[in-house]
Amino acid sequence: MQVTASAPGKLVLYGDHAVVHGQPGIATALNHRYQVQASRLDRAVLQIRAPGSVEREISLARLGANPRPATAFVEAAVGQLLARNAPAGGIRIVSDGPAQSFGLGSSSAITVATLAATARLLDVRLNRARLYDLARAAVLEVQGAGSGLDVAAAVHGGCVYLERSGARPERLSTPDLPLVIAWSGRKAGTTNLVRQVSDLRARHPDLVGPVLGLAGRICIRARACLEEGRWSDLGELTDIHQGLLDSLGVNTASLSRLIMAARNAGALGAKLSGAGGGDCIFALTEDSVRAKVVAALRAAGGDVLDIESNAPGVCIHGET
Ligand code: PMV
Repeated sequence: MQVTASAPGKLVLYGDHAVVHGQPGIATALNHRYQVQASRLDRAVLQIRAPGSVEREISLARLGANPRPATAFVEAAVGQLLARNAPAGGIRIVSDGPAQSFGLGSSSAITVATLAATARLLDVRLNRARLYDLARAAVLEVQGAGSGLDVAAAVHGGCVYLERSGARPERLSTPDLPLVIAWSGRKAGTTNLVRQVSDLRARHPDLVGPVLGLAGRICIRARACLEEGRWSDLGELTDIHQGLLDSLGVNTASLSRLIMAARNAGALGAKLSGAGGGDCIFALTEDSVRAKVVAALRAAGGDVLDIESNAPGVCIHGET
């Protein structure tokens, strides 16, 4: 038997960094999907094939002992499941996905798809809450830190609201978002930037604490705007949020260029998404000015991505 599952990547909308510090965060799932096929093996090994001719075989007894960076999320995901449900024999995982990740949540998507496909293969029942807990534990095992917002988007799809890291994510009911997403051309190192903001907070707790608190308050208001489709109010919140992220030192010249280009071309608001230091920005853009915003972003050196938001969460595609 072979089971195929896929899970979406994500775009952090609001609460970037703040959500690591006890504040809320909001993300949307993207139709930038990662697929995983799981099948059984006779021998007690985990075999992994990943894009870029990556092949790995580990004995199940040694799973988690010495993970390789290229397959660490798959190893941790299978490890989480097998810690409670040891199979007779082994498992083969084949993962696949878009050629470029653009920092849009490939690790969490692969982790969630691996867990969903392997659980179905082993006939282990996981509801979304349980799947979230196991996937979050796997991601934390590999990364050591993270709010779980990316995992929430991969599991639930749509737009997700996390009241704080460690809370149960809520799936919001929102109309489709008028987003334009652009890649800055540079990959960002999330872990270092999260550490950088934590260090800044430790040096200036009386200043950085309130900045993160304001980002949290923006999330609460942004949630209502998202649910009611109040895009012009959301645009204002988006721009205020960008100012807060700038004050945390995670903005860059190229992200700024894209953000200003989108705003000057008529976007309702624009900000960086995620840890900063590179990766993507998004602009809230009404249809009437979309072409102008897209052209301005390209002229400013951005790669406008043809990716839709509010995408479905993890799903099983087939069993053969
Ligand atoms: O850089 P990204 O897109 O992986 O997003 C990171 C978001 C942070 O809030 C900075 C970290 C987190 O785990 O939520």
